[in-house]
Order: sequence, then C-alpha cells, then structure tokens
Amino acid sequence: MSSIFDKFASLQEQHAALTAAGKSPAEIRFDEIISPTEAMLDGKRTILMGTNNYLGMTFDEEAVDAAITALKTEGTGTTGSRIANGSYNGHEALEQELADFYGMRSAILFSTGYQANLGAISALAGRDDYLLIDADSHASIYDACRLSDAQVIRFRHNDPQNLARKLERLKDKPGNKLVVIESIYSMLGDMAPLKEFIEVKKKYGAYLLIDEAHSLGVMGEKGRGLCEHEGAESDIDFVTGTFSKSIGTVGGFLVSDLPGMDIIRFVSRPYMFTASPPPSVVASARKTLSRIAGASALRKKLWENAAQLYNGLQAAGFELGPTLSPIVAIRLKDAEKAITLWNGLLEAGVYTNLALPPATPFGWYLLRSSISAAHTPEQIALAVEVCTKIGLELGLTTLSNSNKANGAALNGASPSPSSASTEATDTAQPEADEPAARV
Ligand SMILES: Cc1ncc(COP(=O)(O)O)c(C=O)c1O
Repeated sequence: MSSIFDKFASLQEQHAALTAAGKSPAEIRFDEIISPTEAMLDGKRTILMGTNNYLGMTFDEEAVDAAITALKTEGTGTTGSRIANGSYNGHEALEQELADFYGMRSAILFSTGYQANLGAISALAGRDDYLLIDADSHASIYDACRLSDAQVIRFRHNDPQNLARKLERLKDKPGNKLVVIESIYSMLGDMAPLKEFIEVKKKYGAYLLIDEAHSLGVMGEKGRGLCEHEGAESDIDFVTGTFSKSIGTVGGFLVSDLPGMDIIRFVSRPYMFTASPPPSVVASARKTLSRIAGASALRKKLWENAAQLYNGLQAAGFELGPTLSPIVAIRLKDAEKAITLWNGLLEAGVYTNLALPPATPFGWYLLRSSISAAHTPEQIALAVEVCTKIGLELGLTTLSNSNKANGAALNGASPSPSSASTEATDTAQPEADEPAARV
C-alpha cells in the first residue's frame, strides 16, 4: 500500500546518502550546555562555532534571574494570543523599549523572528500591492510571499540596479511597492548595499523593509544594526528582527516610524492566531535589550573574533563568503567532501552548521560558523587548525592564499558592509518578473 510519505522517497535517499559517512546534521543532540561556546556532545567537550549567540548573552546572569522571577510570578506561558488573553504589561513594556531603542514611533512583538517576517510582510503587502524581494531572502520572507495577496517579484541578490529595472516597469501601476532586504545574509554573511537600495526606493516611491536579524547588537555604535552603521535609519520604513540571536532568547519584532502601524495587530495572521511569548522570554529579552546599546566592548571583541576566523580560514586557502562578518561560511561544491569535513570537525570537538541546497545560494554546500564575542582566541585557533588539517587531507586547501589573507585583514572593530559581494551575485539570478521560488 502506498504511504503519504512516498513523495519524499527521493529526498530520504539523498539524506541517507549524505549522512552515510557519519552523523546527520539534523540529529545533533547536545547532552549538556556548558557555556555560550561549549557543550557536551556524545560525551565529548565540543566548541560551539555554529550558534547565533553573537554577544554570548544566553547565560547572562541578570537575564536568567529576570526570567526566573517572571516564571515564578507570571507562570510558564500566557496560553493565548496578543489579541485575546496573551497581552501582559511585559509585552507592552518590551514594545515600548524596542521603539525607544530604535528611536521609532512604534513596535510590534511577534512570537518568533520567522513570524515577524511572515506577519509583517504579508500584512503590509496586500492584494493590489507589489512585493519585491532579494533572491537570497530567508525562508521566512519567501513564506511571507506565500501568505501575502500581493504580486511577488524577486530581484538579483544585492543588486540595486536590478531592483530599479523591476520598479521602472511598475512605475505607472497603482498599488504600493514594498522592497524587502536583509542586513547580513544568513548563509554567506554578505551585507546589503543599503545606501544604493535607499536611492532606488526613494526614486520610485517604494517602501523599504530591512530584516536586521543578524546585525542587531552586532553593527552600529549602539548595536542597532546595518542601518545605524550606515547612518541611514531615517530612510528606512520598517525594520524586522529577532531575539534568537544576539538577544539570546526567542521572539521577533517589527518597528517603524510611520504613523498608523498599530492596525497591523488586526490584520496580521501570524500575530493574531498564535500564543504570545511567555513572560520568562519577555523578561530576559527586556534585560538583554537594555544592555545592547552599551555593549560596544563586546561588539569590538565579536569583530576581532570574526576577523581571526575569517583570515585564518582564508589564509588556509578555503573559499569563503565575500565579506568579513560574524557569519563565516566555507563554500564547497562537493557534497561528500563537505560532509566529511563537517564530520571530521565534530570528531575533533568543533561544531559548525552544515547548510545544504536548496537552502544555500548556487547549490553550494556550506560549513557555516557564526562567531561569538564569547569565543576565546584559543577556541578559534583550534577550529582553524582542525579545519586546515582536514581541508588539506581532502584537497580542499593548499595553504596558497596566505598573502591574499594578510591583505584582507581587517582589524576587528570596523565592519565594512560592501556592495562588492560579487561572488554571490554574478551567476544565474532571476531576471524576469517571475514568482519567487520557495525555499
Ligand atoms: C535573516 C533571518 N530572518 C529571520 C529569521 C528567523 O528568526 P527566528 O529563528 O528567531 O524565528 C532568521 C533565522 O535564522 C534569519 O536568519
């Protein structure tokens, strides 16, 4: 008899083949979390190089204490949505604190970062509108396109001129145009050429939403992300973000300076039809958020650590993402070698993310590390050493690139968002106004 799962047979085969050499990335179970950068895995002390714990806040004492107090006084969950019984004072206070942090008029809290994109974008772009998204968008943005009634058009990754061509064709059409980009892209760590996108959106009267998931706490003097770093906050219409990275917990948000945003609470299904974040999560997010603006020493350390990893791997001859950022991805074309390298690192006590197509650009296999301010130079040096040793065995590196790496060395504190993410944009990308592909 056939099974409802039959349609996944080829996927299952691919997965089995990929993981025959060792562990499956989806089946990693940590026995014990020791610190933001270490855990026990299969009885082995393992360095965590693949979390998004950019500022190492997950064990912050004040955030943990605030969560415990909230658990004891308000319980384990709200058991309801924000538009029913799920709004507590803490939710509203956190929204006010987010609005104040960004210097914007209002903020809306969602239960995850995924839901923030899903709920914000699908509600903002309605039936007669146009949604223009970067081709390398996160799955939450692609899924928002499915939920939205707007016409979806995608433009080439990090290519403002391509966006301009798409907007030019729409210029006489009625309906709002909402452009969606990300600050730091989650797979390769490359950054949006924000100023150029702003020029285009202004020229065509479009709205611009930027997902600052990977840059909150990471970029900008006060940690407000790429928009702050570029001095461009007043030109941005909407910012979405998540608490699951530098804030160290879970939850998401939309902020904007535009008047009238509160109506989103009554039209956004991912806001209305899901339970609100538990009080303990809200309490720890409030505590961590309150520390972001003053965390410049942690940010400096984070960028120093990122430079140590990026330059070390580049010197070994690995092909990486185009820009230095806290997301450092080794790009591989060969699935088997990628799996072998990932397993070899695990055996040596280094955990990284293995990202596989179709979630990756250009069908690459990525060994993706996301660095933390809490990593020590010794941990990073060990990761580089093990990677290099296995890379040499697999013929992935030749150690021939060391001069290039020295030339590229950035001294940590000054990230350089760049429009020169050429490697990520110069091959097949969508040209036609086709509906977005679904990752
Ligand atoms: C760019 C981007 N946006 C949104 C999300 C979703 O955030 P969350 O995991 O908090 O739901 C992620 C998560 O990885 C992301 O990378």
